[in-house]
Amino acid sequence: TRTYVVTGAGSGIGQATAALLSERGYKVVGVDLKGADITADLSNHEGRLKAVEDVLAATDGQVDAIVACAGVSAPKAFTVSVNYFGVTEFVDALVPTLAKSDAPRVAVVSSMASLQPNSPELVEACLSGDEAKALEIARGLEEQGPAMGYLNYPSSKRAVSRWIRKAGITERYAGNGIPLNAVAPGTVITNMTKELLSTQEGRDMVDANVPMPLNYHSDAVVIARLLAWLSSEENTHVTGQTIYIDGGADSTLRGDDI
Ligand code: NAI
Repeated sequence: TRTYVVTGAGSGIGQATAALLSERGYKVVGVDLKGADITADLSNHEGRLKAVEDVLAATDGQVDAIVACAGVSAPKAFTVSVNYFGVTEFVDALVPTLAKSDAPRVAVVSSMASLQPNSPELVEACLSGDEAKALEIARGLEEQGPAMGYLNYPSSKRAVSRWIRKAGITERYAGNGIPLNAVAPGTVITNMTKELLSTQEGRDMVDANVPMPLNYHSDAVVIARLLAWLSSEENTHVTGQTIYIDGGADSTLRGDDI
């Protein structure tokens, strides 16, 4: 049976994905700050290394797929550490292990926010792999208050979606038969959005940025089903893509401008 590593498995989309994959009979090893099989902090280098070590111990070095869901949306610098480096460094460290699988797969969670205004300088710093530089820029944004600090979130997701495209076609991923994709959800009802969605004012603000004409806000399991497919044996040729699973928000906002 396949073994899946799911980050962010303690809540929301990660929890729903872990539950769905378990229901389907797969072995699932969850990673999270709390409430998962492996307790780890993906916001820093040591925490990521420890997470990788613990994953290898829990799986006897057999990992078929990684589904990276852990993320935060605070207007703070650490958002970049968790959302970008907590995905790329963690996933990358497990590539040699994945490469031993017959059907290795990686699927990560980006966001509709990857299309929102961001800091191009921060995005480039992320993609260059320079976490210290990225954090310096991110702290600079944070210090200018919540509105500028918020740019850390779309920047981290833009960087994830660009990393997917760049890394997906390399020898390291494509050459090892590893599809590497992201999903970009619209508004999903989870702990991350609960408070904002609890008032009409909050919902209006969210909906102005992320209009969802098809079926409105989604439950986490909706995103889990797409992550499960992208990381399944059935996916042999989709790679480097960010798939919008957003009730039509991308089509509404970008129209023909793709
Ligand atoms: P959530 O808050 O319910 O779950 C996120 C999980 O990540 C939590 O269990 C949290 O403990 C874990 N996490 C946070 N920092 C961590 C760290 N340093 N190390 C290890 N684990 C850590 O939120 P949700 O909505 O399930 O978010 C999952 C992903 O989906 C995130 O990447 C988020 O940016 C993305 N997303 C969510 C949307 C939404 O509307 N809820 C929309 C678009 C993207």
